[in-house]
Amino acid sequence: MFSRFSRRHFAKLTGLSALGLAAAPASPADGGVERATERHAPSPFPEGFVWGTATSAYQIEGAVHEDGRGRSIWDTFARIPGRIEDGSNADHANDHYHRYKEDVGLIRDLGAKAYRFSIAWPRVFPQGSGAPNPKGLDFYNRLLDELLTNGIEPYATLYHWDLPQALQDRVGGWQSSDTSKAFADYAGYVAERLSDRVKNIFTLNEAGRFLDFGYGWGIDAPGLKLPLGELNQARHHVVLAHGLAVQAIRAKARAGTRVGPAENIAACVPAFDTPEHVRAAELATRELNAGFLGVMLEGRYTDGFLEYAGMDAPKFTAEELKVIGSKNDFVGLNIYAPQFYIAASDKKPGWAALPFPASFPHMNSEWLRVGPEVIYWAPRLAAKVWNIETIYISENGTSSEDKLGPDGQIYDLDRVMYLRNYLTQLQRATSEGVPVRGYFLWSLMDNFEWIFGFEKRFGVYRVDFETQQRVAKLSAAFYRDVVKRNGIGV
Ligand code: NOJ
Repeated sequence: MFSRFSRRHFAKLTGLSALGLAAAPASPADGGVERATERHAPSPFPEGFVWGTATSAYQIEGAVHEDGRGRSIWDTFARIPGRIEDGSNADHANDHYHRYKEDVGLIRDLGAKAYRFSIAWPRVFPQGSGAPNPKGLDFYNRLLDELLTNGIEPYATLYHWDLPQALQDRVGGWQSSDTSKAFADYAGYVAERLSDRVKNIFTLNEAGRFLDFGYGWGIDAPGLKLPLGELNQARHHVVLAHGLAVQAIRAKARAGTRVGPAENIAACVPAFDTPEHVRAAELATRELNAGFLGVMLEGRYTDGFLEYAGMDAPKFTAEELKVIGSKNDFVGLNIYAPQFYIAASDKKPGWAALPFPASFPHMNSEWLRVGPEVIYWAPRLAAKVWNIETIYISENGTSSEDKLGPDGQIYDLDRVMYLRNYLTQLQRATSEGVPVRGYFLWSLMDNFEWIFGFEKRFGVYRVDFETQQRVAKLSAAFYRDVVKRNGIGV
């Protein structure tokens, strides 16, 4: 598709050809470039490194009323006026429910051999628990078969924020440990039926996001603003759901099925690379993630977390902590932006998060500060703090303006710049032995970006939401090249 991005094409586009300055020769026969290629070895990733893309159910599937799917809290929330910036909802989204074959073809065209998607809980259990809906699960049977036929390894996420509305109505959603138990039942049910083909399962996507934004700050579904004590209790139910699901999957899935969370780690970067700032960043990583990733990986809340929460600390039993700390096979980290730059401090607790200057650069999404080094530091620090053996970058990417050019192409140079820099830092990590085994680019295609609706585009394929036409962006060609060479640079 990107054969049109030829040298001649660029030369014409930039007017270089008129000046007799056509782009540099690229074929080995052209001499100069060949010599340059010989001088600079490419920077490869480890053998067997998993290259993939990622999406989630509510953001792409559409077909919200089909085949017995129940309502989710996002169906409800998106209908409240003013909640979604462009007034949209994901009733139709990318119509992936009907176009999944075409979309699997897009993954295949990238050469990516892995795909992270999510299963909609309300398709499988329309009421959250109780009677399953086999027609709902059938969609994922079809999708899996299509992926495997195309040589693409499926990585399934069980919860990407679309909680069955029935559970919200009946028990208050994550405010009740009944939801944790219902999640484990759903996890076991899915694992039993799909683990003949899905070997890797992510439990919860970004617990640290959907809980705080949905139950604490009223920004995401279901739009609640709970007081801190209740929020911490809901937080505890979420991590308990993770632990119970790990156990249910181990009990019901085929031997060899691997499981872990996909978390938006509070990503720390040392202010600069000196041993004392690095040590401070390790301490900060542990404390700033204590309520989610920390307790999942340690089976305990840190003293700092409990002290800080004080009277608002969650109530829990020793047995629950054991469940929450069930061993994972891998840890997924969603990495977009540096969240904290950390400096060593003489004062307790030995580190300080530095304030961001207003001029700090960001991408098209304002929250998405650019700091490529975060994808080096976050996995390195996490691996050290929790002794993790297998990490996946379960998401990384950026939104971009992504306007169609006059020639019908999308020159998303800012996304290419972002990916190029982040992947260079990731390569630095793997070459130093940080145990990152795979990378899932967010996202395969533009989709419903939650409260921003369809205005923020994260795909390497552009989607026209009127016609459902998918068009590869320049970044798709960039990523295909990285995947093909298992490396970055020439
Ligand atoms: C993380 C979330 O998991 C995903 O759903 C979202 O679209 C991306 N971040 C981009 O904001």
